[in-house]
Amino acid sequence: MGASIVVFVAVCIGCMSTKSTMQPNSYVTNPYTTWRQYGGGADQSKYTELKQITKTNIKDLELAWTYSTGDNVSSYRFNPIVVDNVMYLLAKDNSLVAVDATSGKEIWIHTGLNLTSKRGLSYWESKDRKDRRLIFFMNNTLQEIDAITGKSILTFGTDGVVNLREGLGRPVEEVVRPTSSTPGIIFDDLIILGMAPGDVIFSAPGHLRAYNVVTGKQEWIFHTVPQPGEYGYETWPKDAYKYTGGVNTWGEISVDAKRGIAYFPIGSPSFDYYGADRKGQNLYGNCLLALDARTGKRLWHFQLVHHDLWDFDVVPAPQLITVMHNGKKVDAVAQATKHGFLFAFDRVTGEPLWPIEERPVPKSTMPEEESWPTQPFPTVLQPFNRQKLTFEDLNPYLTDAQKETWKKRITQTRSGLFEPLSDKYETITLPGANGGAIVGNTASNPKKGLVFVSTMDKPAVYKLKKLEPVQLSVPLSSNETEFAKAFYTQNCQSCHAANYAGAVGPSLININTRLTFDNFKSTVTDGRGQMPAFIHLDEKAIIAVFKLLSDTSGRRAGGNARRWFDPLPMPKAKTPVTGAVVANGGAPGEAAVSKVPLNPMTDYPPGVARPKDRYVDGSAFSWGGGFSNLIGPPWTSIVCYDLNTGQIKWKRALGNDEKVAPGQNFGIPGGSQNKGMIVTATGIVFATCGDGYIYAYDEENGNLLWKYKFPRVPEGLPAMYEVNGRQYLAVCSVAAKVTDGPDNLVPRAYYVFALPKKK
Ligand code: HEC
Repeated sequence: MGASIVVFVAVCIGCMSTKSTMQPNSYVTNPYTTWRQYGGGADQSKYTELKQITKTNIKDLELAWTYSTGDNVSSYRFNPIVVDNVMYLLAKDNSLVAVDATSGKEIWIHTGLNLTSKRGLSYWESKDRKDRRLIFFMNNTLQEIDAITGKSILTFGTDGVVNLREGLGRPVEEVVRPTSSTPGIIFDDLIILGMAPGDVIFSAPGHLRAYNVVTGKQEWIFHTVPQPGEYGYETWPKDAYKYTGGVNTWGEISVDAKRGIAYFPIGSPSFDYYGADRKGQNLYGNCLLALDARTGKRLWHFQLVHHDLWDFDVVPAPQLITVMHNGKKVDAVAQATKHGFLFAFDRVTGEPLWPIEERPVPKSTMPEEESWPTQPFPTVLQPFNRQKLTFEDLNPYLTDAQKETWKKRITQTRSGLFEPLSDKYETITLPGANGGAIVGNTASNPKKGLVFVSTMDKPAVYKLKKLEPVQLSVPLSSNETEFAKAFYTQNCQSCHAANYAGAVGPSLININTRLTFDNFKSTVTDGRGQMPAFIHLDEKAIIAVFKLLSDTSGRRAGGNARRWFDPLPMPKAKTPVTGAVVANGGAPGEAAVSKVPLNPMTDYPPGVARPKDRYVDGSAFSWGGGFSNLIGPPWTSIVCYDLNTGQIKWKRALGNDEKVAPGQNFGIPGGSQNKGMIVTATGIVFATCGDGYIYAYDEENGNLLWKYKFPRVPEGLPAMYEVNGRQYLAVCSVAAKVTDGPDNLVPRAYYVFALPKKK
């Protein structure tokens, strides 16, 4: 193994001296000097070997150009990609735009693309570089655009479309959201895909698939919920593969391109908080899974949470690093989790670098639930999060009255890692399901064996509630509001908060001022981003909920929580930009695909032993104790691990909430999700943050080297690239405004930095 590493390094040094843009498939042979893929390259390290920007001159970084996105909505966090001197980005009311990467000047614009993969794009080129494709998810399909002309590629799949609801081994009408907001990963001529079916009852299974990028043919599938005869089948009830779902990769897939191994972080099985219908260990739920990237065959796996009952999806990109371990050079993989642990393995054998211990954990008291008696705990590698809530940890910005209430409450709750949920008492987990490390939250210096985790300390307060069937056919006129409230509590509250002010999803207060009823209805019935589709609702129910959210006078009290997005009405497609080439509008095959009726599973298949009742999380506080955060700062941190020693090298609080005040609904600086990092070979760690800044830290000690404040929260991963000998840093900043002033006057834009041009 040692010898092969030397070869690898030697190849890369070779590439450095040639012009990177001349290398065929250079994301494979020359991984650290381009930004042709979401995350920088196949290994998702967000690492660059461009060396112009250093710790010494970083203070001189200045804006080279900006590109105004020109839209009113902001529900994307886009990692721009750059091929040669062209940058591809999302802007202008759901358009893909190609711009000159040195100036932002538009080259072409393809309108009408309401992408599902709003975090970024996949890029592929043929060996002779003549055929170049941008690949993305939209409307339950995989589609492609010619990167040179901006036109849809109609020879891909059937008339330009691969219907991803097909090929999962479930009836097509039952498959909801077979796509993800994270783009697929390219390996050779394959695009490898995760998906985000959700982990609600009867979600589709998140099988992993690879498609040929030229033909659109499905080349392999790996059943993340194993079927009869497959490894792991016995870790479920015998019919579970017919009705359980989730177990999906909605975060990032990392590929060791040299070895042809793909590493998948895998999410929870459905339903994520109550598992009476999935007794067993539930492979490959919550695993780090290594597959042969060419064939989809399992190489090894390690389950990080057995029989998950906490929605502890494994999400962020596995980090592929090389470390010295027991005196030997080892190619390793490190996986950060929502529950605050970093696990490290030999990348080839799956052998843990340091022992991982199975320790006994509390037993569930819920009817028919069989929680797993032990859970894996890493040794040596210390957790990167706080993992238990105490009085001392309570947020100091709570008022005294709030503190007293919560102190009382905490004595009646059960708190701690792996404390199972109950319908009798509240449970506090720290980090909660929306804390720890999620998508985009890992980066590394692969050669030095340093792994960086951007993490959020955020508890969740849970209480299970028996799910009573909702009678949607009953006329609503008499007690419409009661119905709407009950409906909201069961279906929407976990993400949009009890006071409608938003948590995982945006605020829904006064929704009628931002969305028409039709927009609202299609959002609810089709789902959006991480929001699942609620397809089986009748119109009366949707009207009742819309009315409830529209009439919010008097409900605002205490509800000025920070919104993740500032939704405004969707503008109609704008007139094309003068001088730019506008490719054909909408997507090929869109209408045809969306006409396939959805009819998701609502009950167990005939003959299956079913649990007596279903339970869902009915707590009003799932996502943070009813406040943005129940515990005190730091709410967000960057943690640097040196995996040569297993020690935490440094840890820094990330961000600063300038508006925090006692009794208020404090913000979450950093708001970990979807913020990103870049690590440079010159020893700089860039990190975007929920307080509106990008910070640059010294890789050695975490000292602050530079910062820049955007008018809006920067979202998604930044990108770093070089054109004509100049090194650039690009950041998408389109989310909530940070500066004062009317919302529509604060620009949404891509900001691109560089050192001043030499005169
Ligand atoms: C699992 C979490 C989750 C659940 C459950 C959920 N949502 Fe959402 N919702 C989201 C997220 C995340 C978004 C933002 C999606 C995006 O744009 O990427 C969203 C967006 C929305 C929007 C668009 C808001 C705007 O202003 O643009 C509406 C409306 C909405 N949700 C309504 C509902 C309703 C009604 C329910 C219950 C029937 C519900 N949601 C359940 C997570 C959820």
